[in-house]
Amino acid sequence: MKDNLAFAAHRADPLDDIAANEVDTDGAAAPSSFLNDLQAGLARSQKSISPKYFYDEQGSTLFDRICTLPEYYPTRTELGILQTHAHDMAAHMGIHAEIVEFGAGSLHKVRLLLDAMEQPRRYIPIDISGDYLNVCAQSLRQAYPSLDVQPHIADFTKEIVLAQQAPALGRRVGFFPGSTLGNFEPGEALRFLRQCARVLTGGALLLGADLVKSPAVLHAAYNDRLGVTADFNRNILARANRELGANFQLHQFAHSAFYNAAVQRIEMHLMSTCRQAVQVAGNAYTFAEGETLHTENSYKFTVDGLQQLAVQAGLTPGPVWTDPARQFCLLWLDAPAHHAG
Ligand code: AVJ
Repeated sequence: MKDNLAFAAHRADPLDDIAANEVDTDGAAAPSSFLNDLQAGLARSQKSISPKYFYDEQGSTLFDRICTLPEYYPTRTELGILQTHAHDMAAHMGIHAEIVEFGAGSLHKVRLLLDAMEQPRRYIPIDISGDYLNVCAQSLRQAYPSLDVQPHIADFTKEIVLAQQAPALGRRVGFFPGSTLGNFEPGEALRFLRQCARVLTGGALLLGADLVKSPAVLHAAYNDRLGVTADFNRNILARANRELGANFQLHQFAHSAFYNAAVQRIEMHLMSTCRQAVQVAGNAYTFAEGETLHTENSYKFTVDGLQQLAVQAGLTPGPVWTDPARQFCLLWLDAPAHHAG
């Protein structure tokens, strides 16, 4: 079995450079960075765009629909693991803990933890999709009146900056479910985990990740019969049309998702079905027939590979929770007690 460390030195992927080149404030979803990234991505020989731009309000809604599809096992499976083991996880968190969630989305999963925790103090959901985050935070406040909910609109793929001090009593626990880690290149995943070790000092990270499995199961999960994943994929073009005045002809881009076994990842692309030109803010970009725009990588993991990556990042592996079919896992990773150096 190939482990993730093997890729750490290889940074040839175009999706990598996009994240690496950005200098940014908290204007995570700012149209200017979408415009800049799209134009830079369309100018590459392998055209690409970061998957973080999927998640405007329509994209977030489409993603929530993906999570309910029969073929898309990850969400269901992870919820099952959380349901079964929430009390065990909560015991590791201890009393008065604070949860910081990265890429929080609709805030459903954290409820299972909050329900099992002993007097959780504060919850800081971080997401790039601001409007959606605020709506979801409001409904969470109503359900948990004594919880201090402090949504933070930011792009956690860049630097993690937390204004709040870690709680004086109780631990700060990072929650990174959904296998969102799989969107990072291995080198970026390591950098992200290192940042977690820093901002979660004295606490821990609860990491949810999708495991390597049969290619047929993986393929089905990203090629659902109803075509919701295809709509989700094409929404990135629709969003460019809406926000940037681009003129992508959506019906001339076919959804393509396949498992690249050599690098243990699902790749999603949008394939041009004809030769065509697209205008984005005054610039023209041509697509040959069959040429693709690479929209997402979704890496799959092994428990061993994840734990090795975590150790490299300065985290200490603790318990592992999985489902009986070992499709998905949640890892407990302790952060160092004090800042290193
Ligand atoms: C949110 C990145 C974990 O990779 O499975 C779902 C996104 N893309 N279907 C994933 C996604 C297509 C999802 N992550």
